[in-house]
Amino acid sequence: MSSDVSLCSPSGLVLDRDEPTEVAGENSFLEDVWSGLASDGKTLPCKYLYDEVGSRLFDDICEVPEYYVTRTEIAILQENLDEIVDRLGTAATLIEPGAGSGLKTRLLLEHAKPSAYVPVDISGAYLAGVAATLQADFPELCIEPLAADFTKPLPLVAPELDGSPRVLYFPGSTIGNFTPEEAIRLLAQWRHVAGEEGKLLIGVDLEKDARVLEAAYDDAAGVTAAFNRNLLTRINRELDGTFDLEAFTHRATYNRRRARVEMHLDASSRQTVHVGGRAFEFAAGESIHTENSHKYSLARFERIASEAGWRVDRVWSDADELFSEQLLVAS
Ligand code: TRP
Repeated sequence: MSSDVSLCSPSGLVLDRDEPTEVAGENSFLEDVWSGLASDGKTLPCKYLYDEVGSRLFDDICEVPEYYVTRTEIAILQENLDEIVDRLGTAATLIEPGAGSGLKTRLLLEHAKPSAYVPVDISGAYLAGVAATLQADFPELCIEPLAADFTKPLPLVAPELDGSPRVLYFPGSTIGNFTPEEAIRLLAQWRHVAGEEGKLLIGVDLEKDARVLEAAYDDAAGVTAAFNRNLLTRINRELDGTFDLEAFTHRATYNRRRARVEMHLDASSRQTVHVGGRAFEFAAGESIHTENSHKYSLARFERIASEAGWRVDRVWSDADELFSEQLLVAS
């Protein structure tokens, strides 16, 4: 069998090939960067952190000692695997927005044994690597990679036409990178993707001590700082930018009122930066806000889920209640 023959049975096909896949193109990157840098209180949209280099740096963040998120979530999954798998049900189509090839995905593929796996990622190059690695280790699995911005409507066939029930998998507390309002919108969109029988297994990070949080987002080895700064490197390369990398410092601050860690790049001195032929002025100390990571109480996340049409079926946590893995079912 040649390698490009799909192992997917017709009932396992969930991508709608007639729908054009909307991948964020160069124009929208430039427009987003222009509008972010022109606004009062400069910002850059966090999804652009994840180019190929950024995605790899993010994998490294998951291994730094201060970043409790990944290892805690993996421990929760491992400890409760039988019950989780039992509640997910067998032979479902597993859809993972913002996919990875790591242990979290492998645990589910191995134990929940889905009939098809649809990894979704904005970086086509990263996604192709993920799909190839997983296909080699799960030769029987039907893998249908989808290169798309998962915040936009996904080009999937209607859930009723899919041969098997759908499970969405969204670990890593990526939901925390959206504001609560955006999170509700995203979860409501996915409620439609999942259908009436759909489920969502989601990792939600919990509120905790500010020092623990700030260390997790500003590790001593500087991996998170490199990840944040890579956005400027990317702008320089792809959008003809002139950011001086040495002139911007990574900062992570916990904003308790809004229950979120805020990631910034602070300009060390007054300067002008050009991007795609437009000039942007920075005062000394002025920041670019690049990312938020919202933290939740269980009660607050339950409200968010319910506003988006989901019911919290079960919550698993670690003994220190650092992190939660939650199974939502369509309500
Ligand atoms: N979803 C991850 C989180 O909020 C993403 C993340 C971890 C991140 N560290 C970061 C995003 C540093 C930007 C910068 O925990």
